[in-house]
Order: sequence, then C-alpha cells, then structure tokens
Amino acid sequence: MANESNNFAELISHCKEYGYIFQSSEIYDGLAAVYDYGQNGAQLKKNIRDHWWKSMTQLHDNIVGIDAAIFMHPTTWKASGHIDNFSDPMIDNKDSNKRYRVDHLIEAHAEALALEGKKEEEFTLLKTMDELLAATDYAGIKKLIEDNRIKCAISKTCNWTEVREFNLMFSTQIGSVAEESDTIYLRPETAQGIFVNFLNVQKTGRMKIPFGIAQTGKAFRNEIVARQFIFRMREFEQMEMQFFVRPGTQMEWYNFWKAERKKWHEGLGIPAEKLRYHDHVKLAHYADAALDIEFEFPFGWKELEGIHSRTDFDLKQHQEYSKKKIQYFDNDLNEAGKPFGNYTPFVVETSVGLDRLFLTIISLAYANETWTKEDGTEDSRVVLKIPARIAPTKLAILPLLKKDGLPEIAKELMNDCKNSFMCFYEEKDAIGKRYRRMDAIGTPFCVTIDHQTKEDNTVTIRYRDTMVQERIALSEVKKLVLEKMG
Ligand code: GAP
Repeated sequence: MANESNNFAELISHCKEYGYIFQSSEIYDGLAAVYDYGQNGAQLKKNIRDHWWKSMTQLHDNIVGIDAAIFMHPTTWKASGHIDNFSDPMIDNKDSNKRYRVDHLIEAHAEALALEGKKEEEFTLLKTMDELLAATDYAGIKKLIEDNRIKCAISKTCNWTEVREFNLMFSTQIGSVAEESDTIYLRPETAQGIFVNFLNVQKTGRMKIPFGIAQTGKAFRNEIVARQFIFRMREFEQMEMQFFVRPGTQMEWYNFWKAERKKWHEGLGIPAEKLRYHDHVKLAHYADAALDIEFEFPFGWKELEGIHSRTDFDLKQHQEYSKKKIQYFDNDLNEAGKPFGNYTPFVVETSVGLDRLFLTIISLAYANETWTKEDGTEDSRVVLKIPARIAPTKLAILPLLKKDGLPEIAKELMNDCKNSFMCFYEEKDAIGKRYRRMDAIGTPFCVTIDHQTKEDNTVTIRYRDTMVQERIALSEVKKLVLEKMG
C-alpha cells in the first residue's frame, strides 16, 4: 500500500493537518503520551471499533458484548494481581535522572547494533535479556547494561541506579470528604470488567461454554517510556474478548484464536508479510501460554495484539476475594456419560489496542506518490489509501460549478446517500484541488456533477487509489459505494 517515501514524521504531521490526531491540550504545550482524535480520526477510530464489535458479537453467535465501568472496586486489582505485580523493571540514569524501562533501553541498543550490521551481537544481547527477565534477575540485567556500555540518551553516561519495579496503575480518590475517601484505580485493562461480570452475563444470557464476552473501552497505564506517537500512550483504548472454555481445552482454543485473529487483521487489508507471531518467553502471572501478533510498524516489529491463555486464575482469584462462588455447571455429558459438573472455566483472551490498530492502518495507508504525466511533467500527491469499509468519509460530492443548478443536483444526491454512509459536500476551489484534498483525507470515492449530468443524468466517479475516472448513472452512485464498502 504505502510507497518507499513513506516517512513516520511526515505521517504524524499529516495526521494533524488533516484532522486525524492532535496532541492533547496542545494550547498548553500538550501532555506527554496523551492524544486527541480530530474529526476524521474519531470517525476512523469508530469505524475500526464498530468493525471489531460486529465481527466479535454479530458474527459469532456465542460471543456477547458488554460495557463495564472504568472505576471498579479496589479489591478487583488486589485479586487480579495488578497491585502486586503490574509493574515494569526500570532503571534511572543518575546524571540525567531519566528513567527507562530496561527492556526498551536494551532493545534500542540492539536496534543500533543491527543497523551497524552486528546481527550476531544483537541476537545474543536480546536472547540474554529475555533469559534474565524470565528469571527476574535484575542484578544480571544491570550488569548486561553496563557490560554493553549502554548509555543514557540525554547524559550519554553509563551511571545507572539498581533496577527497580514501578507499578503502572494510576490511582485517584473516590468520595467527597478527604478523610472518608478511598483509593481507587483507573483500570489498566478492560478484561477485569468482564471477569467480575462472568456470572451476570452467563446467567442472564443463558450462555453455554464455550462462549465469549467482548468489550471495548479506555485503559490507563502510567507508561514511563511513552513514545512513538499513539503506539504507547498513557490513556488508550482496548478491544478485548475473554473466551471461557472447559479446563483442558484451552490450548485448542488458544490455537484457534491465534489463527482467527491474524486472519481478521489480514481481512482488514493488512498484508500477511507485515504480520508475525512472537511467543512470550516470560509469561505474565496469570498465563500458561501467550503470544503477540506483531506488525511491522514504521519503527520496527512491535506488538499489535496479545493472545493469552489466562487459565482459571482470574475467576478463581475473584471467587477467593469476593467469597462468592464463581463456577459454571456443565451438563453436557463426558465420555463416561456423566455431566462434566461444576468447574471454574479457563480463559483464552484476545486483546488488541484500538489506537495501535489505528496506527497500523494509517501507516499502511499513507503514501507520498509522484509520477510523470503524459505531457512529460511531474505530478505528485499525498494519499491515505484507507480501506473503503473503514474510511471516515466514503463519498465526496462535488458540483463542478456553484451555479447552473449543479449544487441542487449534488445536494439531492447527498440527501439520498447520507443516511447510508458518511458523505462530504464541497463546492469551493478547482476540481483538481478538491480531489487532492479528498486523497489526503482518504475519501475513496469522489463524484463530480457537471453540465452533462443535467442532460443525461450521469456523473463522473473518481477512484482514490487508481485515480481512474468513469461516467456512471447518477442513480447508480449509492449502490456502487455500498458495494465497494463490502
Ligand atoms: N488484558 C490483557 C492486556 O491488557 P497487554 O498485552 O498488556 O494485555 C493488550 O495489552 C493490548 O493493548 C496490546 O497488544 C496493545 O495493542 C494495547 N496496549 C497496551 N498498552 C498500551 C499503551 N500504553 N498504549 C497503547 N496501546 C497499548
């Protein structure tokens, strides 16, 4: 999709210029790692979210969706292990006082080695890091950083503190009177809202195992190294699905969702060669298997989605802390002809960051194209080749002139189409300029109403990706756009 001159810095400024993404509270110089979505960004984000929601809930008859609150009872996070375990090993540079996540610091150094062609050193460094992290050997990690002479980007020194763990949850107070207030947390994942509602949904929806509960919503993490635009943010959105299965069948379902989710991304137009699996070496406290689906972002291969086999850890923990029985009665018959009976279901989770998927789509879509015209002169454009299904605006309706009854015909078409999909009407500027603006916004179809329209009820439709133009009946426009949206 994107061509060679694709450049990440250009993409970031394009996102701002065309109403996709703004720095949060920019007039006050912004807030680090927090972003706002503009008029086009919010619509694209909604379209991606709706597409995920539809494929999870509408297209799977054993998955339902919920919308749990961000604030949860504080014991939730004790039970889930987040209060004790949701932390990253960090190291501080004593000269600059800058704090780094140790894996990010070492990975950046490994990337630099790779760029210098030192592939073997890069491999050994990453392998050693993985082994030390898996063994929680923080003294070993510090030694690895020192032995490799890894420097702070600011002070350029190797004067490091010990490696320490920092919790990533944001906390706040609930209750109006200070003495009576309680500490609560902004959820760091949406998944716990699903676990605590397991029985509510299972019973009210009369769900039979295996079944899933899906949810989209905000999550918050006090990321120390927040960088790479919307890749790692402090406030972001997740799209998660917990799939509840019979104990002992979790690996079967883990493999099912591993394949299913990669296929889903490919169905969204992400080329298969830009996606790969990465198995976790160090498993989270709740998992018996985990992998990332990685995408090749403009800054390298990084996690897009996590697939985790979370065992029965979460439901059992909530049962213990809440003192409420959280079990499922399975009256299907086993091999001995007896019901499976009561058990705590195992869980396979799929968890994708909506903002990361947005970044995936927009970085694939962005292209800075130049070509030679028939008369030998050069031409160029910046285009967002966002798949029509999720593009913010589907159709631009452009009367060639602001007179001769052309705007009236255009507005009639707009009224006919706007109930079915997002349209944009514009009558200012030369038509070529209007096409370029629509390319930059990522509008897949433009229709021009001209004088011939008055004579034979035809219009020119222009396709964004190929720039091909053809004449079709005015009455066919809506049907064609709906067909192309898929
Ligand atoms: N419930 C499991 C869970 O939260 P995770 O791997 O920590 O697992 C899942 O997060 C997904 O959420 C990631 O694959 C990523 O797409 C997204 N994500 C995590 N942290 C993020 C951040 N700081 N900014 C943007 N997206 C993030």
